[in-house]
Amino acid sequence: MVIIADCLSVDGSSILPRVAKINISMSAPFIKSDFKFSQESLDWIKATFEFVKDKNEGHDLFKTEFSERKLGRKVSFEGSLALEEIKNYLKKFGIDDSYFDDLTGPDIFFSNKPHPSPHFPHFDLLRKIGLVKSRFNVCVIYGLNDDMFWWEDVVPGHPLVMPDYRQQIGLKGTTSQERLSYLGNPTSIAENMYNDTCSAFVRTDCAHSITIKNPGVRLVVTVALNKSIDELRKFLS
Ligand SMILES: [Fe+2]
Repeated sequence: MVIIADCLSVDGSSILPRVAKINISMSAPFIKSDFKFSQESLDWIKATFEFVKDKNEGHDLFKTEFSERKLGRKVSFEGSLALEEIKNYLKKFGIDDSYFDDLTGPDIFFSNKPHPSPHFPHFDLLRKIGLVKSRFNVCVIYGLNDDMFWWEDVVPGHPLVMPDYRQQIGLKGTTSQERLSYLGNPTSIAENMYNDTCSAFVRTDCAHSITIKNPGVRLVVTVALNKSIDELRKFLS
């Protein structure tokens, strides 16, 4: 499938070449999902994580494990219908109850900026396990037109991969523009990633990024998975 990328920076100018033709093959680094939270769960998530509206932050992971330290109160999915719904769905992909803990989540990605947020290519890392192979993301408050990008060949061992300031797996370049100039065109783009579904499995163990085109709150529930996209895909066939 040929898609057209239109990557916008904060000021609306193009960061990557405005038109890029990319072939998305069967081994695309994402799998769109049909999962949706029930209305009861959606209401619970919005109420539980309402505090993000008061924050002015770029796209980042909020680990519920550290909520007490960060917020002064425990925020958790434990015992929630939302967690049960996710668990039941992921059983189809060979991920059972025993997999879930403080490390894997569910946690939330959120951002709340008065302007669109551009790329910041990175790897997903967790302190105790290193690279996260993939994530299951379920959007709760989001734009339909956010794009996701992958550089699938940029994995540990690639010349652009080097220790970051914490001596963890990082990318050459400090700013988003620097990283993009080193990386060049992505190998895959999911344009308008969530225009037809609110959930997806995404590859996170190669360089990747998202653009958030709409200002304001964005809230995505995420679970870190120890299965690659190709392993997950096998459960669909
Ligand atoms: Fe990521």
